[in-house]
Amino acid sequence: MYENNFRKFYSQLDLPFQETKQVFLKRIFKTLEREFDLRKNSKQIFIDLGSGNGQVIIYSAIKYGIRSIGIEIDPILIKEAKKSIRLLKQSKILEKKVLRRITLICGDFYTHSLKNYDFIYIYSLPTMHKYLKHVFQTAKNGAIIISHMYPLKGLTKYLEFKFKLDHSKEIQEISTFFYRKI
Ligand SMILES: C[S@@+](CC[C@H](N)C(=O)[O-])C[C@H]1O[C@@H](n2cnc3c(N)ncnc32)[C@H](O)[C@@H]1O
Repeated sequence: MYENNFRKFYSQLDLPFQETKQVFLKRIFKTLEREFDLRKNSKQIFIDLGSGNGQVIIYSAIKYGIRSIGIEIDPILIKEAKKSIRLLKQSKILEKKVLRRITLICGDFYTHSLKNYDFIYIYSLPTMHKYLKHVFQTAKNGAIIISHMYPLKGLTKYLEFKFKLDHSKEIQEISTFFYRKI
């Protein structure tokens, strides 16, 4: 219990909640469609490591109709995500079949296996990247890893750099980086 709280505390110091702006999200998913074979209503599976308020997985489930998993260490953000999903459901924006595609896990992405996922999204800080080797190692070959804001460094043994999406039209010096698990 103490160890869990300690880990949670440090995780959030390392990586506080900040959401990916919707305008970037739209472009990121278009790039996945165009360059990385993301298919609407397919059997592909998407995960957001550190899903915050759930907006990324809500987007992938609604717009792309694929199974979308969010793992988040902060139970308050999990509650917030569940509340958003409930509200969307009540306002009929989210149909039941879409709802069934979304899974929220309150947990630690350092201990989560990535073997089942086709698309792995992360918006984290470079200070965390060097501790993620054992996590990315579990991803299946060919899985696409999307790192918003910062390139993933020190992972060339497992990840092949594929594409840089430049958002400088919106905000200078913001990019998203795409990798393939090898
Ligand atoms: C920068 S936010 C990104 C939120 C969301 N992915 C987005 O792009 O809108 C990072 C999130 O990771 C969560 N987080 C930090 N360490 C974590 C860990 N070890 N396991 C799971 N979630 C973690 C934080 O609580 C925070 O909500």
